[in-house]
Amino acid sequence: MEESFKKKVEIMTNDVFQCMRDSHSVRHFQPDMIPDEMITKILEAGSWAPSAGNLQPWYFYVVKDQAVKNHIYEACVRQSQIEQAPVLIVILADPARSNEHYAERGAQLYCLQDTAAAAQNMLLAAEALGIGACWVGSFDEVAVQQAVKAAPRLRAVIILALGYSNEQQPEIKNRLRVAEVAKFIQ
Ligand SMILES: Cc1cc2nc3c(=O)[nH]c(=O)nc-3n(C[C@H](O)[C@H](O)[C@H](O)COP(=O)(O)O)c2cc1C
Repeated sequence: MEESFKKKVEIMTNDVFQCMRDSHSVRHFQPDMIPDEMITKILEAGSWAPSAGNLQPWYFYVVKDQAVKNHIYEACVRQSQIEQAPVLIVILADPARSNEHYAERGAQLYCLQDTAAAAQNMLLAAEALGIGACWVGSFDEVAVQQAVKAAPRLRAVIILALGYSNEQQPEIKNRLRVAEVAKFIQ
């Protein structure tokens, strides 16, 4: 990696709490491509996520190819952010790997939780790097799995649409108050 680029990435990263506050779903993107170095950083962030038994039952397929993106767009009920985003990361789970160690609970639950943890790490990394992202979960799973030519045993679980945002940063992040959802048992 070029030295000047490395510096730029480091300077642009933010504190993790700031990233959690600022990170939000971006659904309108500029057409500019994200540098591969940044995509790699985002993938690394995904791979640092925890997973049950550290099995890491995940695959991250990076899609830039327009024809493949078109198939995914159709499989995602034509959500426009899929069409606009210069890069998609399809996160796939390998339930069989989790099943070997944890049986039904591994295959049905842990491997999906593992991919969600990886996806959230990637969203925070994207935010830290100044890249907009949208988590997309509404799609025809088999159609996406076939579009990226994944092995039939793999489940397409999450798609992240990534690119430079073409939106204004929202003023507020709409969330339930912590007091509404948290309970201290002491
Ligand atoms: C499991 C899951 C599935 C989602 N699926 C979609 C989706 O298919 N399309 C979409 O536009 N956003 C999707 N989102 C993004 C949510 O709509 C968004 O995170 C939520 O409304 C909060 O908004 P914010 O991310 O801007 O804070 C999904 C998020 C999660 C966690």
